Amino acid sequence: MIAEDSPPAMEKVHDMLKPLQSLLTRLHSGSSEILETTPVSAVADPVDVPPNLPDAYCADLQLAAAKYLRWLIDHLEITQDEFVIRGWCLSFAQDPSDIRFLLNGEPFASVEWPIPSDALAEFFGFIPGATQARFTCRQPMKDPKDIFPDGYARLSAVSRLGEHPRSYRTSWYYSDPQSPLPLPNGARMARVVFAEDPHQFILGGATIAKRFDMLLRERFDRPLTSFSRILDWGCGSGRVTRQLMQMGCASITGADIDPDNIQWCRENLKGADFHHLGLNPPTSFADAQFDLVIGISVLTHLSEPDQFRWLAELQRLTKSGGILLLSIRGLVQLSLYKQPSERYVELERQGFLDSGVNVQLGGVIDDQTFYRDVDHSRDYIFANWSQYFDVLDIVDAIASNQDIVILRRR
Ligand SMILES: C[S@@+](CC[C@H](N)C(=O)[O-])C[C@H]1O[C@@H](n2cnc3c(N)ncnc32)[C@H](O)[C@@H]1O
Repeated sequence: MIAEDSPPAMEKVHDMLKPLQSLLTRLHSGSSEILETTPVSAVADPVDVPPNLPDAYCADLQLAAAKYLRWLIDHLEITQDEFVIRGWCLSFAQDPSDIRFLLNGEPFASVEWPIPSDALAEFFGFIPGATQARFTCRQPMKDPKDIFPDGYARLSAVSRLGEHPRSYRTSWYYSDPQSPLPLPNGARMARVVFAEDPHQFILGGATIAKRFDMLLRERFDRPLTSFSRILDWGCGSGRVTRQLMQMGCASITGADIDPDNIQWCRENLKGADFHHLGLNPPTSFADAQFDLVIGISVLTHLSEPDQFRWLAELQRLTKSGGILLLSIRGLVQLSLYKQPSERYVELERQGFLDSGVNVQLGGVIDDQTFYRDVDHSRDYIFANWSQYFDVLDIVDAIASNQDIVILRRR
């Protein structure tokens, strides 16, 4: 059992990381590399298991990944004359020959698909297409403007019906690497996304910002740039913040409890404001200061009492009518982290599961028990977060592999 009130001893941390390393090795050999945070399975104790669960629960998790995530890019390469992506795509209902890989709405110049993927088949045993799920797509690059027409490359895997108004939810976006904004070093990236890969840092941040822009247009008929004061709460090393800046958003504030990342953002992402926050509210922000609040993978790390304190603070900071987009770990993330279906059932029963300490912020915050790994059920969100906001919807896997709760300040 990981003690909830004391940091785990180093040898225990080492032991805890062993299964994580083996999971990562398997993922590298054939499936996802996009992990927002430490996989819970690697550190959590088994939950109280109801015996003999039908396979349906496990299949439900895997189908969630096939339907809502659909595909992942785990390798991206840009040379002087070529743009290359590699990854996997789960065609669970479609004939693989119907899947098309598009760059800005047009077929890639060269596509190798489907490629055998034994490791993935082991991971997604209920999805027939998982045995032949890898792809490689290549596009010659004469002029970077062809790949990044509006500063972004839009990457889509579509069925025979082609792109449609909701395709943005499974499209990935990559921002023009010629951006003048510098990238943080590997350690600063890894503290927020668990990987030191600059391509994944850009792909994840750009995808979240572009999908949010489309989501806000779809729901509220407003692009991101129409909001006058945006808070990126828990901005880390500015993975999403930099994209908001590149998209031309007006007044952007990034805030985080990680002093080192905030210092780096202040020095390198000129044009946005950055604030270091204490572990407990209140912050120094004025009442009703923001009309849009984004919080990616922040409430996924707070204990239940801390969650309520911070929801009350976000309520104070948000204008009446203001929108909040806060992420939680949903079925897709449970599936990607290969969580046993018992955990899924336990989550539905309890609503909120705290798996204990997450050591990723070990070197930068004093209270080593503050940063945790937690899961929420949908019922829990509607029942509890409604005390603070109108809970308008929860959208599957739109924030990379996390779900987004759409809230409005009353
Ligand atoms: C998984 S990282 C995600 C960072 C960033 N949102 C992104 O998507 O790249 C979670 C971040 O939340 C920050 N954090 C955790 N609790 C916080 C709190 N109560 N207030 C502000 N930031 C917090 C952490 O320091 C960390 O940078």
